[in-house]
Amino acid sequence: MSSDSDSDETVGEDRVPVLLVRGDREFLIEPGAEQGTDLGVLEVPDDVQPGDTVETHLGEAFQVRRLRGPDLFHQFERTGAPMVPRDVGLVIGETGVSQGDRVLDTGTGTGVLAASMARAGADVVTYERDPEFAEVARENMELGGVEDSVDVRTGDLTETVDELEGSSFDVVTLDTGDAASIVEHAPELLVEGGFVAVYSPFIESTREVVETAREVDLANVRTRETIQREMQFDDRGSRPSTAPVGHTGYLTIARNV
Ligand SMILES: C[S@@+](CC[C@H](N)C(=O)[O-])C[C@H]1O[C@@H](n2cnc3c(N)ncnc32)[C@H](O)[C@@H]1O
Repeated sequence: MSSDSDSDETVGEDRVPVLLVRGDREFLIEPGAEQGTDLGVLEVPDDVQPGDTVETHLGEAFQVRRLRGPDLFHQFERTGAPMVPRDVGLVIGETGVSQGDRVLDTGTGTGVLAASMARAGADVVTYERDPEFAEVARENMELGGVEDSVDVRTGDLTETVDELEGSSFDVVTLDTGDAASIVEHAPELLVEGGFVAVYSPFIESTREVVETAREVDLANVRTRETIQREMQFDDRGSRPSTAPVGHTGYLTIARNV
């Protein structure tokens, strides 16, 4: 594992944004930029490094921290509902997205999934039909330091998917209500052995996806509900939290074999 000092130049020279943190205050800022806070103005040096301390003009200290995957969920400007870190982990774990992969993603939304897959080493082409959302997603990719690896295209993928057939993507990830109409094309979009992952909050669209995946002869089609129970540990004992059940959606995975 590289230490902060091993990669010192990378952060400063490439102007990769860093987190400035003090208690529950967190700001994602590009080196050389200025940020107003309730504790004064932060001027971030061009050569700022993780591990540094930067003071506001009122002398209040903030710690500099490198951005990590789960921070994207909290720091990106939100448009389409971003995928929570655990579901990002499931998508990447179930499809094996890694260095050198080519991934087709739709819809971009806030861009958390697309940026996370880029941080795992993939080149991502992602479609967003809302032009304003697409613009925000491009800015988010810069904030996440992955603008060179994520191509945010404005448009409805269902209207242009024919043009992408034969593109040989390693993985297709879908987070839209109309995912079934893209799954129909999955065998022509994917390399042999490639995966499609569909995330949906609703069972109706999930069933449609499963039926379509079977119709086009994708293999190992399986759906799991993504749900987690938070645990509570206090003086009285330890048990699952009584807060509402942690359902976020259904994840369907299938393979082109
Ligand atoms: C739930 S959000 C995706 C969130 C994203 N996975 C993330 O982690 O930030 C769904 C997005 O898909 C877009 N969308 C829905 N259908 C689409 C389509 N056929 N082509 C392109 N974008 C689409 C919507 O505008 C919306 O922004």
